[in-house]
Amino acid sequence: MDIAIMGYGVVGSGVALLLQKNYESIVARSMQSSLNLKYILDLLDFPGDPFESLIIHDFETILRDENIGIVVETMGGLNPAYDFVRRCLLAGKSVVTSNKELVATKGYDLLCVAKEHNVNFLFEASVGGGIPIIRPLTQCLAANEITEVAGILNGTTNFILTRMIENAMPFDHALRLAQNNGYAETDPTADIDGHDACRKICILAALSFGQHVYPEQVRTQGIAALTTDDVEAAGDFGYAVKLLGRAKRLPNGRISCSVAPTLVPRESMLANVRDVYNAILVRGNAIDDVIFYGRGAGKLPTASAVVADIIDCAKHTTRRRFFGWEAGGTHFVADADDDAVNMFVRAIADDTDQARQQLVGLFPTMEEKKTASGSLCFMTGVATPRLVKQALASIDGLQVTQMLRVL
Ligand code: HSE
Repeated sequence: MDIAIMGYGVVGSGVALLLQKNYESIVARSMQSSLNLKYILDLLDFPGDPFESLIIHDFETILRDENIGIVVETMGGLNPAYDFVRRCLLAGKSVVTSNKELVATKGYDLLCVAKEHNVNFLFEASVGGGIPIIRPLTQCLAANEITEVAGILNGTTNFILTRMIENAMPFDHALRLAQNNGYAETDPTADIDGHDACRKICILAALSFGQHVYPEQVRTQGIAALTTDDVEAAGDFGYAVKLLGRAKRLPNGRISCSVAPTLVPRESMLANVRDVYNAILVRGNAIDDVIFYGRGAGKLPTASAVVADIIDCAKHTTRRRFFGWEAGGTHFVADADDDAVNMFVRAIADDTDQARQQLVGLFPTMEEKKTASGSLCFMTGVATPRLVKQALASIDGLQVTQMLRVL
């Protein structure tokens, strides 16, 4: 069987390398007589690269070649990835992708096209890099009603936060390190602003709760506004700051879905997920809690998940994998700001004593820690973020510099 890769960046080149490195065992597991990487589509040439001779620039070459049974999409972004993937599926080719944006925004649509043409559309690498999560969630945990899925879903931001917490490293320096290691997206604002984690929680939510969840339905906050002072103050309360994606089933049947920097108790497993590692907690009504942990980004870890999907496609040329992923709706996702949590707040007041008195009136169970700078730093007690924002806004002369959820 012949294979094509579209996009020769960090992940695409990792796929080519891994296919070559473990060729014998991969072919044996695919139950094919051979798996031949025939084309690599990219805008650039790669002079001197070991796969230079496979580089092509015209997508139609892949589309027209009837021997290409599996196409790997590692271009990223929506355009032209969506159009290319759709046309490959329409042409009867299975597609494997690592593209979170594509799956989070067009997953349902592409699964329908794949179904109509009896081919597979697989995306294990789209969440958690090398961590097996899509198959375990949809197959091994299929006997459960999933009530919540939550985790550290972005390696770049976890790497940056770890450096800020452990080394008091400035944000920019830590970001450069993450980029040099190939963890960050081409445009790292997708990592920093939480959009990458948002796309991943959308995919996990759709698979867990059965309906498409669109990124614009998810309240998303990134880490760009976090300072080393915030991280240190959270540490004084006994917490580590982690960028968490969360989706949970509400008693009314809707789901609450969010991405936000969150204070996590320092002794918890999630707080101890460091550097580029990701961890995903799945809560089911039979299994209770199960946690998946591993490298959430990087060339070979992500390629590992892509190549596993290639093997799956090669093994199942006449059968399709079923995900139970239906169309989304406007009322399916509730606003996470209405979900009550404890909140961590840092603020500066014109008159600190007066502001403190008002705060105690508004948040009777609040817990305050003294800061060297004299700024206010406290936990509100459980309330909805919406009400906390309204209450804080009602205090004259109070400037809120940080407000974070507490797990
Ligand atoms: N930029 C992503 C991350 C890559 O840092 O997690 C893996 O999806």
